[in-house]
Amino acid sequence: MDFNIAVIKGDGIGPEIVNEAVKVLDKVAAKYNHRFNYTEVLMGGCSIDATGVPLTDEAIEVCKSSDAVLMGSIGGDTTTSSWYKLPPELRPEAGLLKLRKSLGLFANIRPAYLYKELKAACPLKDEIIGDGFDLVIMRELTGGLYFGDRKTVEENGVMKAYDSLTYDENEIRRITVKGFETAMKRRKNLISVDKANVLDSSRLWRKVVEEVAKDYPEVTYSHMLVDNCAMQLVKNPRQFDVVLTENMFGDILSDEASEITGSIGMLSSASLSETKLGLYEPSHGSAPDIAGQNKANPIATILSAAMMLRYSFDLDKEADAIETAVKKALADGYRTVDIMSEGNRQMTCSEMGDVIAAAI
Ligand code: IPM
Ligand code: MG
Repeated sequence: MDFNIAVIKGDGIGPEIVNEAVKVLDKVAAKYNHRFNYTEVLMGGCSIDATGVPLTDEAIEVCKSSDAVLMGSIGGDTTTSSWYKLPPELRPEAGLLKLRKSLGLFANIRPAYLYKELKAACPLKDEIIGDGFDLVIMRELTGGLYFGDRKTVEENGVMKAYDSLTYDENEIRRITVKGFETAMKRRKNLISVDKANVLDSSRLWRKVVEEVAKDYPEVTYSHMLVDNCAMQLVKNPRQFDVVLTENMFGDILSDEASEITGSIGMLSSASLSETKLGLYEPSHGSAPDIAGQNKANPIATILSAAMMLRYSFDLDKEADAIETAVKKALADGYRTVDIMSEGNRQMTCSEMGDVIAAAI
């Protein structure tokens, strides 16, 4: 089959890791007789440098008319890069937020799975890890604090900044439905994470979760406060199956979840809309400190490409092939530097891509 993929390489390590994902996709296309047509789209700092804005309307149109968007990472060093001297709406991250909103990508799925081969890279003790954990963070992606009104003003000679956190019940309901649907396909357990002891938005969140839960009697669910969840993730990650949460909590908790899988370089993500069009990107950032050095771990991006095949193209067999190839590369002892441990073979970013592509 033929598929059109908009490719956003972005900034920092973005181009390196996306090249490896494309290498693996090309291998899948050759083996399973598909055609992937790639159109490069600028977003983030590279778009600012080329066009003056982090995401142009033309770029959004290319993404909208594609079957899926594959992305690397955007942004630079927030303390040194000149991009962060621009007004907030012209900075790299504003491009990504605009793209998520324009494509209606309200559901962000971030699976955190501990490969048994990476136990040595996991910072948790053996007795906590047991035989591993396998959880999914279902993060609301187009509402809450990252999209609320914000301003910085001076009042009576004092600078004051405002950010607002709003959710309406429909926004909560649609992500909650995704959370429960996902739980139904997994171990039928869902923990909804909020801060209902303080925030109104969380109290509404809880109420809607309670309502939606009635339609999924097979799913066991409970509520957890976000501060407790941050602790439970390192204390007992095995208790989690689907973690449902709002935008900012999901942003923070998914970084934490990725670290306990051994490295933030392992965590893929899919951002889904009401249609088949999705955006697939690693959960990590652009790591400007190692950009251009061929050291980055491309696995999160390669696994994101697998999610693209599964969710946007319905190519389950091909997605399985990528995931199996990643497992094989790890089982054969190939490691990028972030997950390196004694007795294994250290690879560059492109060598890791080669090994995984060869295993398809
Ligand atoms: C992520 C990133 C983004 C986010 C940034 C780059 C805007 O941290 O995808 O987790 O906060 O959503
Ligand atoms: Mg983040």
